[in-house]
Amino acid sequence: MLKINLKSLKIEAQKEIEKAEDLKDLDRIFKKYLGKNGKITQVFSSLKDLNEKERAEVGKEANRVKVFLEKKIKEKSPSSVRLSSKGKKEWFDVTIPGKKPSLGHLHPLTLVRKKVEEIFQAMGFSVIEGPEVENEYYNFDALNIPKDHPARDFWDTFYLKNGFLLRTHTSPVQIRYMEKNNPPLRIIIPGRIFRHEATDASHEVNFYQVEGLMVGKKITAANFKAIIQEFFLRFFEKPVKIRLRPSFFPFTEPSFEVDISCLACQGKGCSVCSRTGWLELIGAGMVHPNVLKAGGINPKNWQGFAFGMGMDRLAMMKYKIDDVRLLYSGDLRFLQQF
Ligand code: DAH
Repeated sequence: MLKINLKSLKIEAQKEIEKAEDLKDLDRIFKKYLGKNGKITQVFSSLKDLNEKERAEVGKEANRVKVFLEKKIKEKSPSSVRLSSKGKKEWFDVTIPGKKPSLGHLHPLTLVRKKVEEIFQAMGFSVIEGPEVENEYYNFDALNIPKDHPARDFWDTFYLKNGFLLRTHTSPVQIRYMEKNNPPLRIIIPGRIFRHEATDASHEVNFYQVEGLMVGKKITAANFKAIIQEFFLRFFEKPVKIRLRPSFFPFTEPSFEVDISCLACQGKGCSVCSRTGWLELIGAGMVHPNVLKAGGINPKNWQGFAFGMGMDRLAMMKYKIDDVRLLYSGDLRFLQQF
């Protein structure tokens, strides 16, 4: 009885396999006959009710049918592989396109920093770093900003205990470097700085600057202008108009600010540049003799220029970002564009 049953099951299953159109069909057929409660599987479990002779005969036949059907199913799906683990059988279609792994990438500020470093290194500058927690001496006094002088109000400062503070600019590293190195000097100092300020589209409590310092014999503002013009050309990969405006910083004399013609509107005037067509990117000047002295350098023999440039603003210009806070938001919709 069971033997006849097996024969018809085999024919029935074979027909179904022939008609199967896709892997889903094959999977369904596999389950129907050979799965846990499959028809052939049931034959195996009913063997125990047979006498010894029948059991041997039917068992053998059932096994033959099983092997046969497995082979047929496999033949029907040349592009598929049967995975079998712990007795479980699954179909795995190797032709289904895989899931694309999402790769990590660098933050726009890191991209800017790397580019800045590469450009200045090519012009002979070394990349130097300094501490984010500073003391008043390096952040102010040594930079010719005396205690109780109103110039300290330029920098809204986060004060810590025991005379420490979060550095408000990268300029203190100028002093730290001059103390340990003899001129001529050519360095840039990229790093994170802190300001105790309200945030808005162009202000953050922490942001990034890159400081520059070049000390040598007969260094003038013309050297600064040439270097910075070359920097912008390489950074923005197109000619950029710049202008120097007289300004004031305690650590430089004379001091100036550098504007670039706004790249968002080609200098016509837009919201990014407050309709002026120009964007302030750099504070700079000729290093004040008191600052050279604080660094242990004789201002009679050496001169130099220094500058501090906002790296967030560079990023905003390069990638046309209109709110600095986006850079610190951790918003993946923003970050995944880079
Ligand atoms: N430290 C200044 C600031 O944070 C920027 C600056 C201006 C740096 C002039 C300099 C400089 O080295 O010479 O606003």
